[in-house]
Amino acid sequence: MKKTILSGSTVTGDLTIGNYIGAINNWKKLQEDYDCLYFLADLHALTVFQDPQVLRDRTYSFFAQYLALGLDPEKNIIFAQSHVHEHAELMWILTCLTPMGFLNRMTQFKEKAEKHVKNVNSGLFTYPVLMAADILLYQADLVPVGEDQRQHLELTRDIVGFFEHRYGAGVFKLPDAHVGKQGARVMSLQDPEKKMSKSDDNDKNFVSIIDDAKKIEKKIKSATTDSGSEITFDLENKPGLSNLMTIYSVFSGKSIQALEAEYAGKMYGHLKVDLADLVVEHLRPVRERYVELMKNRDYLDELLKKGAARAQVRARGTLDQVYKTVGLVRS
Ligand code: TYM
Repeated sequence: MKKTILSGSTVTGDLTIGNYIGAINNWKKLQEDYDCLYFLADLHALTVFQDPQVLRDRTYSFFAQYLALGLDPEKNIIFAQSHVHEHAELMWILTCLTPMGFLNRMTQFKEKAEKHVKNVNSGLFTYPVLMAADILLYQADLVPVGEDQRQHLELTRDIVGFFEHRYGAGVFKLPDAHVGKQGARVMSLQDPEKKMSKSDDNDKNFVSIIDDAKKIEKKIKSATTDSGSEITFDLENKPGLSNLMTIYSVFSGKSIQALEAEYAGKMYGHLKVDLADLVVEHLRPVRERYVELMKNRDYLDELLKKGAARAQVRARGTLDQVYKTVGLVRS
């Protein structure tokens, strides 16, 4: 039996090379050997204000980017979260078991509540419970995510504990986070002390998957680097340069040591020029495929429909068992 993998991305902003390096690139590798489900977290997006038309367009755009980046809709189950209503249903059951104190500790809630002061809604607070429902519905063994989602994974495991304490074991699998050794936290290009985020207001802070060559070059060349001139990996003293080296390493497949040797005696500028070329060339075919896919919404709709049907069979099985276990009458 293959192990089950589940992961997703919230449909906000523009997918970045941070999402690619920290998550989607790993999803792609895992699709070869695991039973994988990858989804578009559109319900999660509603925790911040969304223009309805933008949300709709962005959902197609993210889906086309998943495909263009190499996720195979035959090998994997790829779907939109809102197409499988069991996510919201399981969330309610889990919400009734999760103490508010545990949600209060979530650092992402604190950060988002600070950023969206005018809209600190209950969904922003209970968001990690929806994430737990996403994972537990499919009995996932492993959840490939970047470092910023680790705390939510730990909460998911706690929630399994709350459920089992009240109702006994055997309904849910206990999932593990799968965080890559490298690139689990790609940093902002202008401010390497903070995470690269797809909903950053300043688009110079990230390279988006669908940026054109000119934009990519400009953003990488203007990335903040540190004082000094030697090209060595040093997270503490050279966070900007080290971030660029991590990106370089993942995109090229070369180790950090190999890069240090290759750039001995060269200037930061050399590395930036080469990195910009590398990212442009790597993303060029992705962008081309993306543009093609976006011309055919019917095809995207058809794939989404198929993906949702496959996901729902599995989600339904778990939810039925949960409803029975907690004492809801089944007709
Ligand atoms: P999201 O949409 O913020 O990010 C998608 C994935 O990309 C990773 N990531 C990063 N990795 C490295 N460096 C970065 N700068 C960086 N920024 C983002 C994230 O860790 C994530 O793996 N709540 C989730 C979506 C979600 C989910 C789930 C994930 C909803 N339900 C169930 C897994 C399982 C989120 O907002 O990810």
